[in-house]
Amino acid sequence: MVLFVWEDKYKVGIAELDEQHKTLIGLINKLYNAMKQGHGKDVLKSILDDLLGYVKYHFGTEEKYFTKYNYINKNEQIKSHNDFKNTVIEFKKKFEDGNTFISTELMNFLKNWLGTHILESDMKYGKFLNEKGVY
Ligand SMILES: [Fe+2]
Repeated sequence: MVLFVWEDKYKVGIAELDEQHKTLIGLINKLYNAMKQGHGKDVLKSILDDLLGYVKYHFGTEEKYFTKYNYINKNEQIKSHNDFKNTVIEFKKKFEDGNTFISTELMNFLKNWLGTHILESDMKYGKFLNEKGVY
């Protein structure tokens, strides 16, 4: 079962970043499936770790592009990356502290945040970078 379906509308037009977005969507779906299948704390924790690690790696890649090409919305976007990372970190802490319930609410948050983030913020840098000759 899939919670978050990749569609072409999510393409930002930079191959490396589109692949990373697909991987992130895959990890959100993996967490969703593990939750639905009633997997235990260890499995969920390891997927959460992978998700957080990949989120950091992905934002790091985007931020490298922002710096390299002097992207105008750099600071705004970095702030939004940090807010999201902190929310996931907080959730992971709660989970490790024993609140091992992964809710549909959290899954919807992850899905909606990433979907909106790609369609609104990431599209802007996609256009900007494409104009600089980055694909
Ligand atoms: Fe992104």
